[in-house]
Amino acid sequence: MRIEGKNYKTIWFDQNSKNVKIIDQTKLPHEFIIKNLETVDDAINAIKVMEVRGAPLIGATAAFGIVLAIKENNDLNFIKKSAEDLVKARPTAINLQWAVHRMNNKISMIKSENLFDVALKEAELICGEDETFCEEIGKNGLKLIEEIYNKKKSTINILTHCNAGWLATINWGTATSPIYHAHKKGIPIHIWVDETRPRNQGANLTSYELNEEEIPNTIIADNTGGILMQRGQVDMCIVGTDRTLSNGDVCNKIGTYLKALAAKDNNVPFYVALPSSTIDWNLKNSEDIPIEERDPNELSHIDGIIGDKKVDGIQIYPKKSKALNLAFDVTPAKYVTALITERGICEASEDGLKRLFK
Ligand code: MRU
Repeated sequence: MRIEGKNYKTIWFDQNSKNVKIIDQTKLPHEFIIKNLETVDDAINAIKVMEVRGAPLIGATAAFGIVLAIKENNDLNFIKKSAEDLVKARPTAINLQWAVHRMNNKISMIKSENLFDVALKEAELICGEDETFCEEIGKNGLKLIEEIYNKKKSTINILTHCNAGWLATINWGTATSPIYHAHKKGIPIHIWVDETRPRNQGANLTSYELNEEEIPNTIIADNTGGILMQRGQVDMCIVGTDRTLSNGDVCNKIGTYLKALAAKDNNVPFYVALPSSTIDWNLKNSEDIPIEERDPNELSHIDGIIGDKKVDGIQIYPKKSKALNLAFDVTPAKYVTALITERGICEASEDGLKRLFK
C-alpha cells in the first residue's frame, strides 16, 4: 500500500545486508522510519514493544525471526530456544505460534547446510500467502459493501476498531481490504475509526493509512460508536481478529466486544475479517484464550507532538492510581453476523468454518 505515493510492504528481507526490514509502528504517524532487525532478539523485541503488531504481521516477523536465528547460529538448540522465545513474545494472537510451528516443521526436514535458504523461502512464502489471502478477503468483503450500496445508493459508513489494516498484515489488511477494494471500485465510503485506547492503533495507524489512500475517515473516541449506531450513522462494522475459535468466537483488540453488543442492539451488521492463519482449531473454550495484560504505563502515559517536536511519556493519570491494561477481549459468535475469509464468507460457527475449511 502507499505511503506518500510509494508502495510498501510492512516487512521484507534485504538480500544485501541479510537483515529484515520493518516499518517501526511505534513512530507512526509522526515519523516514518524503516528499521533493521539483525538478530532474533531484535525480532522478539520488535514484537514485544509493538514496533510490529497485528496478528498476521507478528506471525511473519516470528518467521523471519527464525531466519535471523539461523543466520546467527545454526545450532539446533539455539534455534529451538529462539523459537520458544518468539512464541512467548506476545500470547494472544495465534499467528505467532502458527508461524513458528510452520517454520520448525519445515526446517526439521532439512540438512543443516541448507537451513538458512529453506527458512528464508518459507518465511517469504508465509508473507506471500498472507498477502494473497488478504486480497481475497477484500474481494469477498467487497460483495457485502456492494449489497448495502445497491440498496442505499449513497455513502456507506463503516466502523472499524483498532488497526486491522495493511500495517497489521503484509499488505491490504483484513478489515480494511474490503474497504480498499470498495474505494478502488468507486463506491463512496466513509470510515469511523475507533481511536482504540490505550495505544491508539485506530487513530495513529488506521486513520494514517486511510489518509494515505485518500479514503474519507473520522476518528472517534472508543465510546462514540454506540450513539452513531443509534442515530443510523453506521451501515456496517468490520473488524479483525487475533484468534478465532472453531465455534466462531472471536478474540480481538479490547473494546471489540462492546462494539459488537451495540451493533446487535441496533441491527448493524458486524463482520470479522480473517485469514485462515488466525483460526485456532484446537482451543474449544474462549475462556482458555490467553489474554495479554500489558504495562499500565500504556494507559497512564501518552506520547504526542508539540509543534514539530515529539514528546514522549506524558503522565495523564494521578500518580497514585492503579490501572489495568487488558489488550484483548472475546466477542461470542452470536454477535458476529459473518466471518469474511480468503475462501469466502461464512457463518461464525463450527459448521460455517468447516464448510469453507474442510
Ligand atoms: O495489539 P495489536 O495492535 O497487535 O492488536 C491488533 C488487533 O487487535 C487486530 O485487530 C488484529 O491483530 C487483526 S490484524 C489483521
